[in-house]
Amino acid sequence: MRLLTSAPTPTILCLFITTLLRPSIGDDTLTSGQALVEDGKNLISAGGSFALGFFAPTGTDNRYVGIWYNKISVPTVVWVANRLRPLTNLHGSLKLLANGTIAVTDENSTVLWSSSSSATVRNPVAQLLDDGNLVVRSAADDKSNVSFAWQSFDYPTDTLLPGMKLGWNLTTRFNRQLSSWTSTVDPAPGKFTFGIDLEGDPQIFEWSFSGEQETKQPQWRAGPWNGLRFTGVPQMQSYNMFSLHFTADDQEVVYWFEMVDTTFVSRLVVNQSGALRRLVWVENSRWWNPIWVSPMDWCDEISPCGPNGVCDAGASLRCECLPGFRPSNPASWDFRDGTDGCARKTALDCKNGTDGFVLLQGVKLPDTSRSTVDWTTTVSAEQCRERCLGNCSCTAYAQANISGSGSGCIMWTGNLTDLRVYVSGGQELYVRLAAADLRSGSRNDSITIVIIILSILATLSLALVVYCKWKRRREREATRPLAGMSSHSISLARQQGDEGTEANNLEISLFSIDAVVNATDNFSVMNKLGEGGFGSVYKGKLGEEQLEVAMKRLERNSVQGVDEFKNEITLIAKLQHRNLVRLIGYCIQEEERILIYEYMHNGSLHSFLFDKVKGALLNWTTRYNIIIGIARGLLYLHEDSRFRIIHRDLKASNVLLDKYMNPKISDFGMARIFKEDETEVNTKRVVGTYGYMSPEYAMDGICSTKSDVFSFGVLVLEIISGKKNRGIYNSARNLNLLGYTWSLWKEGNGLKLVDESIGYSFSKAEILKCIKIALLCVQEHPQDRPTMSTILLMVGTTDIASIPQPQQPGFVGIRGPNEINSSVSNHDSLSVNNLSITTFEGR
Ligand SMILES: *[C@@H]1O[C@H](CO)[C@@H](O)[C@H](O)[C@H]1NC(C)=O
Ligand SMILES: *[C@@H]1O[C@H](CO)[C@@H](O)[C@H](O)[C@H]1NC(C)=O
Ligand SMILES: *[C@@H]1O[C@H](CO)[C@@H](O)[C@H](O)[C@H]1NC(C)=O
Ligand SMILES: *[C@@H]1O[C@H](CO)[C@@H](O)[C@H](O)[C@H]1NC(C)=O
Ligand SMILES: *[C@@H]1O[C@H](CO)[C@@H](O)[C@H](O)[C@H]1NC(C)=O
Ligand SMILES: *[C@@H]1O[C@H](CO)[C@@H](O)[C@H](O)[C@H]1NC(C)=O
Repeated sequence: MRLLTSAPTPTILCLFITTLLRPSIGDDTLTSGQALVEDGKNLISAGGSFALGFFAPTGTDNRYVGIWYNKISVPTVVWVANRLRPLTNLHGSLKLLANGTIAVTDENSTVLWSSSSSATVRNPVAQLLDDGNLVVRSAADDKSNVSFAWQSFDYPTDTLLPGMKLGWNLTTRFNRQLSSWTSTVDPAPGKFTFGIDLEGDPQIFEWSFSGEQETKQPQWRAGPWNGLRFTGVPQMQSYNMFSLHFTADDQEVVYWFEMVDTTFVSRLVVNQSGALRRLVWVENSRWWNPIWVSPMDWCDEISPCGPNGVCDAGASLRCECLPGFRPSNPASWDFRDGTDGCARKTALDCKNGTDGFVLLQGVKLPDTSRSTVDWTTTVSAEQCRERCLGNCSCTAYAQANISGSGSGCIMWTGNLTDLRVYVSGGQELYVRLAAADLRSGSRNDSITIVIIILSILATLSLALVVYCKWKRRREREATRPLAGMSSHSISLARQQGDEGTEANNLEISLFSIDAVVNATDNFSVMNKLGEGGFGSVYKGKLGEEQLEVAMKRLERNSVQGVDEFKNEITLIAKLQHRNLVRLIGYCIQEEERILIYEYMHNGSLHSFLFDKVKGALLNWTTRYNIIIGIARGLLYLHEDSRFRIIHRDLKASNVLLDKYMNPKISDFGMARIFKEDETEVNTKRVVGTYGYMSPEYAMDGICSTKSDVFSFGVLVLEIISGKKNRGIYNSARNLNLLGYTWSLWKEGNGLKLVDESIGYSFSKAEILKCIKIALLCVQEHPQDRPTMSTILLMVGTTDIASIPQPQQPGFVGIRGPNEINSSVSNHDSLSVNNLSITTFEGR
């Protein structure tokens, strides 16, 4: 057997094995006394899915017996027998001994590895099953019999295959866990293991072994199973292609998965640097697509915010104390070192029975090794609460099983550690607090109810006042033209539909600050969706139906007067289009100015585009629809609505995606609210984002619909390439995305721009057309750029040649300090000709 040599690719465990490339003939079974030797014959499972034989990692002479995918063109080993003791030449063999033991031996019959089985089997056979399991059974037994004398699935290496169990047989205290390879060429057990910890409510952990002393350090915690998924893997909620199983009884504690559609091939692997990945094979791009990777972010470290701290990857400070707690060490906390955690403000008062609970939503449950769990399905949330109140050492509780209406009970004692929040997919946790802290947290149930009632009353009465005022005004102004809208008055509630667009009745409501505070849990960090250019955005639930909304809390220092603000709102409310985020209501009280928008389930385009894993969810058809949607929304703003709106800050993070991945432009009214577009020619303060700004806008503050067209062009290139314009893509020539695209286009290599996440199924014509249009949009001179209506016509055509040839774009590179336009550099805030350019990072 000879090796093919090739550079190992970094992302894929890539071992080149000649046997894979040879037509494999053979059986799936070894009988007693038979041996597999290196003569090019492998065991091939009955369905042809897996092969077992000898292989050597690239660049080494070490040989191993392993199992790999037989039908997949990228060699992928999933199991290794003699991990610790490789063969050093071609004279090894794999034998099935008469007592049912499988052994790997060298030329001198030295046993390098053998299957450890205590049971002796009469008349044994070893068979490679089509799920990748090598089993030893008695020849007399039916192969569908599940009790094998030995099976490779019980001794996983670094890969979990469908049907393979991870975890414990409690009768025999036998544990199955994954362990990484030492390196890409050495399958010996490496630093990282992945398995189930039985302490408390059983949890999945990844551990690392540090140094010689063989101490096991937790590296990442997937946490306990909650009936649907592991609490630390919220992405599992969207795993439609898998069926997930977890069993915890007195026999065993195990996790396994199966494929719902067996035409998909998927595996879970722990790699040498401790990353855990779930990969799905994509045949047409010959690629193992990582649909999930852990650790995902900073909050995935073990307890980064210390005891009773909550980690929030989306927040600027990242660590927050649980409600009713304060930093144990305020000094280091201020320096963003959260490891000391938080302590209670007020000690619990169990004896008097005055303690209560605060509800945290969207969390990863804290470490359950110091918890007790009761999986009984008849235990309700109310009973769990009573149990916790009745035990003075209980500090928190949660439902053990969140499927259906929820059941079971987990109770924690002592500090709550390794707690984090998720934007979606988290669960509920009730934390016990002293009565004093519950009051200050304003989340005591009775208080909450009072607040809800009061705010409903306040909203109703305000709405009534507003309605009456409006009615009076309507009667008075029935004949006045619409221009009256911008007069010094309140004009909201029902208005007539805008011409030419969806004739929805434009209902926009005024909400009280109490309602908003309530809906967002007093602007809790946990509800924060992000930070936009004009303020922070929070998720909230409004009203009885718990309608999900996004609330934008405008920065206090930059807002205008009440009446002006209201007039602006009515203007924005009139802008309705299916590619614009809809304004539902607003709140205005003293200093607060809050805009309430429909909630977009899939967040921003930015979060998909520049993320390897999520990027793969955007195939070309979806991206094409997103481009067309954005173009339509922008056309509406520029030309079709009653008011000509220049967005001025169009970028990937200002395009939100709904449930069906339809794009909606957000922040389109902001420029108006901030009264900065008084003239379309020259603005005092340039608002925009570096990388999306047209040259004339960044340099001279000249802003027109054509500067939006420029931003649109940049956005289209980002959508196609999955790359940010700000990056440098040709270090030799210092080219940014525009320059890079231009050079590819000139060479006739436009398709090289395509994001590899798109895979190989796309329309080349559509992509080339979009690149050409984008290049027209980013041309240096505004007058050369097409208008949005022309752009939509171009997008509609199938004749690419009819689209004019683009000229060299503006801003093709990051230029040196002495060149023209030198002042635009890679800084977030800079000054050009006394213009202050303020740039805002994405939310
Ligand atoms: C097998 O034995 C021979 C003779 O003792 C020795 O030279 C050779 O190195 C051995 N092979 C291996 C793989 O240990
Ligand atoms: C099977 O035979 C081999 C070699 O004789 C021996 O090392 C092994 O312990 C035996 N296994 C069992 C289960 O008896
Ligand atoms: C645990 O192992 C024993 C001995 O191999 C076996 O009989 C039993 O069925 C196993 N239990 C489970 C739940 O697999
Ligand atoms: C392990 O996987 C992670 C995540 O994909 C990757 O960043 C890292 O480079 C991989 N490590 C090795 C040694 O391949
Ligand atoms: C609890 O009871 C003790 C003694 O009865 C009393 O001193 C204390 O103030 C009570 N605490 C609260 C919070 O009511
Ligand atoms: C309270 O809970 C702890 C931990 O769950 C347990 O060890 C203890 O027995 C419980 N005490 C009572 C009185 O139930």
